Amino acid sequence: MRAYSTLQISLHWLIAAMVGAQWYTSGAIHRTHNPLVPPTDTDLLLHALHNYGGMTIGAIMLLRLGLRLRYGTSHRVRPVSLMERAANGLHLLFYVLILMQAGTGFVTSYLWGGAGSLHSALWTVLLVLIALHVSAALYHLIRGDRVFSRMLPFVKR
Ligand code: HEM
Ligand code: HEM
Repeated sequence: MRAYSTLQISLHWLIAAMVGAQWYTSGAIHRTHNPLVPPTDTDLLLHALHNYGGMTIGAIMLLRLGLRLRYGTSHRVRPVSLMERAANGLHLLFYVLILMQAGTGFVTSYLWGGAGSLHSALWTVLLVLIALHVSAALYHLIRGDRVFSRMLPFVKR
């Protein structure tokens, strides 16, 4: 079993916070494009933060993927148990979905507005994945094994 590097742990929690912020800032997008009510300066700022924040998330996820391929994960090189395989699959799905989320957001904003429905649908799938991921993390926390603590900084592994 490997441990995650401090950089991997930092980027994991940075992405979790940034994805939460994306949900918050997304509310301003519909207000910005409401033909009946002109947008406030705050809404314009939040919309811009959503776009640039989302692109930054995409870039950081690519960096994380590179780190994962270079330094590995906390799992065995060849996962053996069903639980390890499920965790590995779910983690890889996160990379694919978040990169697609950033990509479809970019296309919707700058190239073709029709991709907005795919961007919204991907968000729903991402929410399901986050719920599964957090439930699994809490399960490990309650179970008292070392899976939760290996994603915590300053914990000796
Ligand atoms: C991984 C990063 C991202 C996340 C988690 C995210 C999340 C969201 C969420 C939750 C919504 C609201 C969906 C709804 O109302 O059903 C939304 C809408 C939107 N986002 Fe993002 N977003 C991301 C990246 C981006 C990027 C990079 C851009 C543009 C450069 C962007 C542009 C938009 C636009 C234009 C909408 C409105 C879509 C529509 O209703 O037609 N997003 N996003
Ligand atoms: C949008 C939010 C989140 C995303 C996208 C995300 C994504 C990931 C990914 C991809 C990994 C695999 C490690 C890697 O390849 O770098 C991971 C591991 C982990 N995450 Fe998250 N995560 C999120 C939120 C959370 C939250 C809120 C918790 C805790 C409640 C959490 C707890 C963990 C733990 C404990 C691990 C280590 C699991 C293991 O080594 O098997 N994550 N996460």
